[in-house]
Amino acid sequence: MDFDRRRMLTGSAGVGAIALAGLVARPAASSAAASSAAAIPAGGKLPTAPNGSADKIAGDEKYWTQVAKHFEMTDATVNFENGYFGANPTNVRTAYAKATARIQEENSWFMRRDFGKEVSAVRERIAAELGCSVDEIAVTRGATEALQALIGGYNKLAPGDAVAYADLDYDSMQYAMNWLRERRGVEVIRTAIPEPATRQSVLDYYERLLADNPKIKLLLLTHVSHRTGLVPPIAEISEMAAARGVDTVVDAAHSWGQLDFNVADLKSPFIGFNLHKWIGAPLGVGFLYIRKDRLADIDRHFADEDYGVNDVRSRIHTGTANSANLLAVPAALDFHRAVGAANKQARLRLLRDRWVHQVLDVPNLQILTPEDPGMYGALTSFRIQGNTTSAQSTAITKYLSDEWGVFTVRRGGVERGEVVRVTPALYNTMEDADLFARALRAAAAKF
Ligand SMILES: Cc1ncc(COP(=O)(O)O)c(C=O)c1O
Repeated sequence: MDFDRRRMLTGSAGVGAIALAGLVARPAASSAAASSAAAIPAGGKLPTAPNGSADKIAGDEKYWTQVAKHFEMTDATVNFENGYFGANPTNVRTAYAKATARIQEENSWFMRRDFGKEVSAVRERIAAELGCSVDEIAVTRGATEALQALIGGYNKLAPGDAVAYADLDYDSMQYAMNWLRERRGVEVIRTAIPEPATRQSVLDYYERLLADNPKIKLLLLTHVSHRTGLVPPIAEISEMAAARGVDTVVDAAHSWGQLDFNVADLKSPFIGFNLHKWIGAPLGVGFLYIRKDRLADIDRHFADEDYGVNDVRSRIHTGTANSANLLAVPAALDFHRAVGAANKQARLRLLRDRWVHQVLDVPNLQILTPEDPGMYGALTSFRIQGNTTSAQSTAITKYLSDEWGVFTVRRGGVERGEVVRVTPALYNTMEDADLFARALRAAAAKF
């Protein structure tokens, strides 16, 4: 058992004592998971989901205990901050370690002769899983790189046009949109998504934004907001925009692997993805998608000359980078496929529902995703009324961590004030969610 966890379990009374009730089971469960995970042989059996509907499988605790054994995690905290990046299951860690060893041992002999072929196979595999053509995607080091290339390379803007984004969009993408002011001479419109957000209020908001600002030519949308967890109705908004001649660029950094969808579902020609969040690949891999008929609308990356103008790979030019992570992507997709995209989505929503539904009656607590399953996944943020500053939300996360042993993260940038983000992952348990619900109730009474 980790030192910090041990100290907590033997700690003093008060709120800490309440925490004990929830924490006692955790280290045992965790260490069981860790030792079993260590026992899973390299390339061992993947946790293939049983037959049945996703909703039924989501509640099959026996199955999810098996899944959790594929993640070797610390028991120093209950990690409810899985929004940063995805823990890699054991088969991915093994594949990554093997790829690292191969690259070192075979060095340029491998990299110069075989690496290219392996990357092509990885691209083919991603395209097949996502339901697009391989010549519509190019590998990047993450969603930031993908979206910077799409936003920066979008060449249909002229001085006098406008582009728009919202408070819930990711900071780096906001920066890229702001940069278009200088780069393309356009007006940059920033607005805020309404609170409380409902399907209708979000649709109305975008409808009004586009109607009031006919100069808008490019609209940034985020499939899963990293700030609040909100999942806006992307397809409807994209279609609404397209009907007005407005292109959308979609930030899907957080969605593929957390939500079950394929690329056509988003109805957008330009999308940036991550593989190192909910697909569970090693850090530093993502990709960009450009619908085939729209390739000409994105410039070649810094005038790339490695690939022809009709090759999507010319839309990103990365130098020598980590390569082992890319070679471990098939292992991540194997795991993703074994569990099943629909089952992952249903399980993650159930973990979210488990804590949210226990605190809906707390009067001074705002839950930032609506009770509409189409509008959230794993990630949901909360705000304790009046706690809108960074110092206040930091104090709340510190309390949750120090007194209850649950790790969460504050997020700023939401127009109406700071929030605390809560993100369970597949290895978390219903007991983790119950513990968190108790902790949050106590926090709402305290802050
Ligand atoms: C919504 C969203 N977009 C983009 C990114 C950037 O992803 P990365 O830093 O992996 O490139 C993140 C990262 O957390 C995100 O949450």
